[in-house]
Amino acid sequence: MRLDVTGVNAMNSAESFIRACSLSEVPDEGVIGIDVKGTPVAIVRSGGEIFALHDVCSHDELPLSDGEIHDRKIECPAHGSCFDLRTGAVTRWPARDPVRTFEARIDGDDVLVSIEP
Ligand code: FES
Repeated sequence: MRLDVTGVNAMNSAESFIRACSLSEVPDEGVIGIDVKGTPVAIVRSGGEIFALHDVCSHDELPLSDGEIHDRKIECPAHGSCFDLRTGAVTRWPARDPVRTFEARIDGDDVLVSIEP
């Protein structure tokens, strides 16, 4: 399931953070896929922290948000590549390139992400 964030009031004007979803929508030790202004973002909740990664596997461009979370890593369901949640670095092949990560914050029950370069 992919949620779309298109609301006019979604932008936090003081900074570049955009409300992506409610914290309660992200399962503990789980992941959901969100479309943030046209950018697919995988929002992950693990160990009480929130992480945001580009929701496109660098191996064959399939969504990481269909994957599973293990030990602060996300495993792509297609061919088993794993990526570090903090850095996006490859921790298991066949992927060779990292995935982009985004800054993420929790504000009350809101998950905010910055998709700025
Ligand atoms: S598409 Fe992710 S490992 Fe192949």
